[in-house]
Amino acid sequence: MSYRQAKHDEPLIYELTCDDAKEIPIPSDLLPEGLVRKQTPNIPGLCERDLVRHFVALSQMNFGVDSGFYPLGSCTMKYNPKINEEIAALTKASTIHPGQPISQIQGTLQIMYELQEMLAIITGMGAVSLQPAAGAHGEFTGMLITRAYHEKHGQDRNQVILPDTSHGTNPASAAMVGYDILTIPSKEGKVDLDALASAVSDKTAAFMLTNPNTLGIFEPEADDIADIVHEAGGLMYYDGANMNAIMGKTSPGKLGFDIVHLNLHKTFATPHGGGGPGSGPVGVIKELENFLPAPVAAKCGDGYYLNYDIPDTIGKVHGFHGNWGVFLKAYTYILSLGADGLTQASERAVLNSNYLRALVEKFMDVPYPGLRKHEFVASGSSLENDVRTMDLAKRLIDHGYHPPTVYFPLIVDESMMIEPTETESKATLDGFARALENVVNEPAEVLHDAPRNASVRRVSEAEAAKNLILSYKDYLEFQGGSRV
Ligand SMILES: Cc1ncc(COP(=O)(O)O)c(C=O)c1O
Repeated sequence: MSYRQAKHDEPLIYELTCDDAKEIPIPSDLLPEGLVRKQTPNIPGLCERDLVRHFVALSQMNFGVDSGFYPLGSCTMKYNPKINEEIAALTKASTIHPGQPISQIQGTLQIMYELQEMLAIITGMGAVSLQPAAGAHGEFTGMLITRAYHEKHGQDRNQVILPDTSHGTNPASAAMVGYDILTIPSKEGKVDLDALASAVSDKTAAFMLTNPNTLGIFEPEADDIADIVHEAGGLMYYDGANMNAIMGKTSPGKLGFDIVHLNLHKTFATPHGGGGPGSGPVGVIKELENFLPAPVAAKCGDGYYLNYDIPDTIGKVHGFHGNWGVFLKAYTYILSLGADGLTQASERAVLNSNYLRALVEKFMDVPYPGLRKHEFVASGSSLENDVRTMDLAKRLIDHGYHPPTVYFPLIVDESMMIEPTETESKATLDGFARALENVVNEPAEVLHDAPRNASVRRVSEAEAAKNLILSYKDYLEFQGGSRV
């Protein structure tokens, strides 16, 4: 496919001026003197027309799931039906205030309550909190629950065990709660039961499992893992961010897990990425219900309320009740698909992944044998002439495809993690496989020079992390100007 991205010399919004934009006069006599600004604020002054053109120009230089195939492994960049966005944007839904009295937000609470119930069924858990704002935040919440649970039982447990196939946020979240991390090596891409059995002890607080793991492999011995960990007195934590691989087929509850988080912004139709907002609800078994963050939406007779009366609650983990707009999209998505539809979504995610894997295996290494769930990891380690996986990824942009995730997971050398998702057609998968094969066979000098057709050429991978420019003020300073 020939692809060429738009390229505009679009200034920053602060640098744009607009003669038609008029300052809106503020009737200063209506405001208390202390609240009236001495100086006009330093915010962009654009009229609607120029504002729209500015953002449309920027969007044309970007790539999103609405522009094309976006097989970013681990991130589930699937196409999300617009109906969910439309429902979440309805005035009645988007203009409610979390401080409104309970009597005025009965519908909102009903939706939150029903979503909690539906997610409890999907995960096989006893109760759910919608508060956490992201997957990692859900993990952090789950680890706080773990700590509170062991403290309540007078247990001094300081270790969290994980396999080396876990998602990177898992150890980070546990460490933030103060746990020591014990990583065990995997065997053929799965948890090594012997290594686990020798790692557990009376210090084990929890075992965290990303399942399917970062290789896209489902852990077939999850219940044996649960037996080992439970026998040692630890809790089982399920990273359910990859739930789109197993919905309706099995559940963390059935597999013997005690705590799980979901990523509504991956599996349940809110676009992932761009800094949010997201939602990482946490489900727990009945025995842990009393530790959930307060409040949770509850039902009494025909009415709904916010239940703050949770005896061992870890407290709040989010302002008010969580990201309501994301709840509504997940609620709409689940109701529009129904139980059968969700199961079919998972079946399709797994089918697409294995179909694409079979195509890619013909021209790239795909370590670890056997079927995958929703994603798989290829390797560019045998590429020649100083060509690296990064070069393939950059060149794919010139062919009109967003690059897959590269250099993650760390256990595969020169990794390329591909998640086609359930929403893509066979034609798209065939087209992508053809493009990747072409790229693999292109001359090294072309690959090293890619991307050529994108609005931005190759950027330094480390610069943005080392040299943070987070605001316009920092940008001016970086440019050598003065701070404003
Ligand atoms: C398996 C897995 N766990 C956890 C996370 C973290 O989720 P978040 O980015 O919302 O914090 C992700 C993110 O994609 C993930 O793929």
